[in-house]
Amino acid sequence: MRGQFISFEGGEGAGKTTQAERLSKSLNNAGIETLMTREPGGTFGAEAIRDLVLEGTSDRWSGLTELLLMYAARLDHIEKLIEPALARGVWVISDRFADSSMAYQGYARGLGKDRVNAVHAAVLDDFAPDITILFDMDPVMAMKRVETRGEEISRFDAESIEFHKTLRAAFQEIAEDNKDRFRVINADASRDSVETQILFAMAQKYPDLAGKLTDGA
Ligand code: TYD
Repeated sequence: MRGQFISFEGGEGAGKTTQAERLSKSLNNAGIETLMTREPGGTFGAEAIRDLVLEGTSDRWSGLTELLLMYAARLDHIEKLIEPALARGVWVISDRFADSSMAYQGYARGLGKDRVNAVHAAVLDDFAPDITILFDMDPVMAMKRVETRGEEISRFDAESIEFHKTLRAAFQEIAEDNKDRFRVINADASRDSVETQILFAMAQKYPDLAGKLTDGA
């Protein structure tokens, strides 16, 4: 049986990484093998592209160049890691995937939906996650979380709060456009509460898992 492909999306500081670890454990406890990965990155080549794209000032790349770099990284990631894992029956959880390109490059950087959809179709046909969890939260709260954690501010975190508000609205619209695939989670809540929402969404999507998914904290 082919594995399932789960993506986590949302703005910065919404706690996606912690929740990916927890969901992975919950699935393992239910007898499912998992692989956790992230974008941009996940393979040797894609991590090298990640460094290119996340370092430096925000005007280092044009929006379209950035989009193409993201898709180059994504194709390597799919060919070498994601697709072979799914074929082995492993469930893959990716911290970000193509919806991030739509939100960041398509909306926030202004390339537009059509351009992003055209690049996606040229590179990946209609490849998409089986389920996407959107971590929705007020960007002001999210930035505070990033600051409190004392994390390194990437090229993207340094963008203005307006940029992050645009992003939030973008993700909400993308979720609306892809209702069947998306589940929207209120990420401005305790870790346990966010986890409960995710497990609920998973049990809805995969009724066979209902009752088997206990928390992975
Ligand atoms: P990262 O530090 O992993 O951010 P986060 O913890 O919020 O996921 O950095 C990834 C950054 O790359 C993030 O700001 C979003 C951005 N990004 C894009 O602009 N386009 C993309 O297609 C992807 C996958 C990420």
